Amino acid sequence: MVKASAPGNLFFLGEHVVLYGCPAIVTSVGKRTYVTAEKLENKIEINSTAYGKASAKIEGKKLVSRESEKPGLEHLLDFAEYCLEKLDLNSGFSLKIESEVPIESGMSSSTAVLSASLKAVTNLFEKTLSNKKFFEFLLPLQVKIHGGKASGTELFSSALGGFNYLTKNNSSWNAQNLGENTFQVVIGNTHIRAQTSILVGKHHPTLVFRWKNQIDQAVKDIEELSKQLVQAIKKNNLKKIGKIINKNHEILRDKFLVSHPKLEDARNEALNAGALGAKLSGAGWGGIMFALVTEKTKGTVIKAIESTGCEAISTKIGVEGARIEE
Ligand code: MEV
Repeated sequence: MVKASAPGNLFFLGEHVVLYGCPAIVTSVGKRTYVTAEKLENKIEINSTAYGKASAKIEGKKLVSRESEKPGLEHLLDFAEYCLEKLDLNSGFSLKIESEVPIESGMSSSTAVLSASLKAVTNLFEKTLSNKKFFEFLLPLQVKIHGGKASGTELFSSALGGFNYLTKNNSSWNAQNLGENTFQVVIGNTHIRAQTSILVGKHHPTLVFRWKNQIDQAVKDIEELSKQLVQAIKKNNLKKIGKIINKNHEILRDKFLVSHPKLEDARNEALNAGALGAKLSGAGWGGIMFALVTEKTKGTVIKAIESTGCEAISTKIGVEGARIEE
């Protein structure tokens, strides 16, 4: 039996535009998904505390007689079949999934599940796959989950951990670790679930079709902001970081139309309570926002976010990536 875990993530910059080749600045967060894997004779069994159960029989390297209590579990059966084929596994396995990462919240719950599952399965079957290779392995599955297009940013972050600046060079991504930091954030969870697949698969094409120039300009503007943000992070310039993440939020809200009244409510209250900056993170239309705070403003920002009915989550960022648990 092997237990592994992987963290959720926050975008300091670049969600959505990262799908158009723009850099992203992303950090792992102290909320993790835990997956326990065990070998089984000729079947796959999945038991998720959030989604329920799924199972399938193995014929050759394919899954047959698939059964799942919720559609979200189909992706994990796809993952299992993919592992059987690509890792050439000689038996089935079970996965028990327990997660601290809220589902469909923008904190990359699906990525944390995939990364922790892959870490557990490769360890269980004694296969070597570096955390860097997680990206290539899991990207096709992430593409399916995200509605036909996925940047893979969160796969990097969940696998590698830390605070990363991701840039695209031709078709390959480069991850630059931005080092240790002591930034403090408070996350506001609206508990409004939005599916990334609908935002990316259905909303994006309508934007690009009607306002291609506006979207191209937004991508350029955020690319410029990314350079400034890297410098501000390296210099630990909290005020500047706050200003830049605010600008990124405004572009996401006004040009990409992916905010939500409840995200705006939580963000406005956080800023009024003294947060240095605040933005939605992930796909939007609900999910989460986060506020950059100091030790002095943290308490008031937590109360301000809670006053809007959102859950305030105070957690570390830049934590360790996918790992085996003792
Ligand atoms: C979703 O959490 C982040 C998006 O940028 C999609 C992606 O990067 O694959 C909207």
